[in-house]
Amino acid sequence: MGGEWVRVCAHDEMLPGEFKVVWDGDTAIAVYNLEGDLYAVEDTCTHDGGELAGGDVCGFEVECPRHGARFDVRTGEVKEAPATEPIATFPVRVEDGVIFTRDDRS
Ligand code: FES
Repeated sequence: MGGEWVRVCAHDEMLPGEFKVVWDGDTAIAVYNLEGDLYAVEDTCTHDGGELAGGDVCGFEVECPRHGARFDVRTGEVKEAPATEPIATFPVRVEDGVIFTRDDRS
């Protein structure tokens, strides 16, 4: 049940508005610092597999660079077509000044 936590970076290396991508096994996870809070989502658009990291972020929504679907990184919810399925969200924790996340689905 559940894998190891994956180190993202030191907390002070990720400023508000920044993001990083890490891998947990075969899962790419994009971790965002939005207004000082941390969120982790699967870095794969449910429309056609585009990478979300690097897409425009507006408020709490990230836009897929491929065809413009938008997702709320807090919930994974679709905010704009063409995607119809939500993206996965993952837990984030900070321990001793280091950010960790993991794919907790398996
Ligand atoms: S792959 Fe993301 S909108 Fe098409």
